[in-house]
Amino acid sequence: MNRASEEIDPTSSDVDRIPRSSGVAAGQLPRTLALVGLMGAGKSYIGRLLAQHYAMSFVDADSEIETAAGRTISEIFAERGEAEFRAGERKVIARLLAGPPIVLATGGGAYLSEDTRSLLKACALTLWLRADLDVLVRRTAKRSHRPLLRTGDPRVILSGLMEARYPIYAQADLVVDSNDVPAEITLRAAVAAIDALLATA
Ligand code: S3P
Repeated sequence: MNRASEEIDPTSSDVDRIPRSSGVAAGQLPRTLALVGLMGAGKSYIGRLLAQHYAMSFVDADSEIETAAGRTISEIFAERGEAEFRAGERKVIARLLAGPPIVLATGGGAYLSEDTRSLLKACALTLWLRADLDVLVRRTAKRSHRPLLRTGDPRVILSGLMEARYPIYAQADLVVDSNDVPAEITLRAAVAAIDALLATA
């Protein structure tokens, strides 16, 4: 299952041309970097670029859940319900956080769980990829694998999720906008924010 969707404009996303920042040695981050944010924010796409930049492994929590369950997320929602999906999500993220530092793209609802949020706060550096509604609607329209967006008008659903979740995502250590700019710009902003935070830590 390839979840590396091309929802984000990859224009100029050649990370080889992106200078490694001087604050943190060009190597790995000392802790797991967890990306949080709504569906379509670019957590997987930007996460992969960040993993390349910091020479770390990239893991997509949704893919891990699918592998563990032997089912797609849509199948889990349909056959077992959202509550069971959320329980699996908590377990998978806890397992990943117990391992060596990685770049982790979490599913959009993961940070809403109090348990997962506490664990992420304790064990990871969290970065909220924030995007505007129009951007999220446009990006998520490119694919149809998200069960939550199939229950009604995606714009209305995403707008409701923004209202409910943005105050919670705002608890992340860092926030970076992920709107309609080349991925390289978002990547650079994320690297600058991460390196600045680690330089003061
Ligand atoms: C969800 C987001 C999805 C996936 C599931 C539920 C959510 O992940 O975990 O469909 O509650 O926002 P992405 O944010 O990676 O699309």
